[in-house]
Amino acid sequence: MTILITGGTGFLGANLAKKLVAEDNQVVLFELNPNFRIVSEIIDKVEMVRGDIANWAEVLNVVKNYKIKTIFHTAALLSDNAERFPQRAYEINANGTYHVLEAARLFDVETVVFTSTNGTYGDHIGPTVSNDAPQFPRIIYGATKVAGERLGEYYYYRFGVNFRGLRFPPVIGPGRGPGGVSTYTTLTVQYPALGLPYEIYVAPETKAPVQYVEDAVNALKMLSEAPEEKLTRRMYSMSGVACCAADLVAEVKRLIPEAELTFKVNEQIDAIVKKIPMMEDIMAQQDWGWQQQYNSLPVIVERFVETVRKNRELYI
Ligand SMILES: NC(=O)c1ccc[n+]([C@@H]2O[C@H](COP(=O)([O-])OP(=O)(O)OC[C@H]3O[C@@H](n4cnc5c(N)ncnc54)[C@H](O)[C@@H]3O)[C@@H](O)[C@H]2O)c1
Repeated sequence: MTILITGGTGFLGANLAKKLVAEDNQVVLFELNPNFRIVSEIIDKVEMVRGDIANWAEVLNVVKNYKIKTIFHTAALLSDNAERFPQRAYEINANGTYHVLEAARLFDVETVVFTSTNGTYGDHIGPTVSNDAPQFPRIIYGATKVAGERLGEYYYYRFGVNFRGLRFPPVIGPGRGPGGVSTYTTLTVQYPALGLPYEIYVAPETKAPVQYVEDAVNALKMLSEAPEEKLTRRMYSMSGVACCAADLVAEVKRLIPEAELTFKVNEQIDAIVKKIPMMEDIMAQQDWGWQQQYNSLPVIVERFVETVRKNRELYI
């Protein structure tokens, strides 16, 4: 079965690709700016297609040419970059998702898995959010992701496209790129693991949930394979582990006592991060048996540091 990953050399895309290739799937990576280094270990086992998700013809072409059966749609402009370039964010996140869904409809793709975010909830939301809570984002990233969720549901009900998706909290793990307000969660671990200093741009007490990348990838795969009759909805939230920046620092210093971590708060970003809610994943647990494996900060940080140290050249 041929699987397409849009944004295939991004953080989630590359990690997912490695898992799918290890399980002997044929994988096509569709990517605007291929990062060959991050997928170097699988580069001879995947097809790399350079293209723009905002270009309808390019999306149709890749789906048709490779007879794609499953699409994991991860290509996007993340929160910080989207706010800088809102028109481009609309083209990539909203139109790009429309292109993926149309290609799936036209070429009989069996499953489309969408990647959404806690950023779909607005400022009004409390510290915890149930799976089906109202979404009223005030950032373009959230607005375009809500558009993708609702459009995917429309394609499911109207055209029978097997659309499913996950809403992730900030995902933490080796190789996460810049562009999101929660990137500090990754860099606070990654830089010291590489022997580099890092200046954290949120306050020590600022708290946000994090999910380890291996859990995020496992969840994408599990949802893609879940029997249709088990699903009671098309979108499922992931929860993660609550973590304040000071706790993250303490955990890193436990493993790397010489870590050089300092704080220089960016008030604007800090205020946004402080409002990131903890989403409940009870529906994912009930419907398709989801269980988070990396369920505490020490477990996450240990795995993260070990992985970076083993593959230093990938992350430097
Ligand atoms: N990382 C997180 O913490 C997080 C949290 C919630 C949701 N998500 C969602 O998960 C998905 C993957 O996130 P990520 O962390 O891997 O992001 P990422 O930025 O690492 O990966 C996205 C990839 O998409 C590619 N891309 C961007 N514009 C494109 C275009 N026009 N055409 C083709 N490719 C394009 C980028 O080059 C990049 O490789 C995104 O949809 C994001 O919104 C991520």
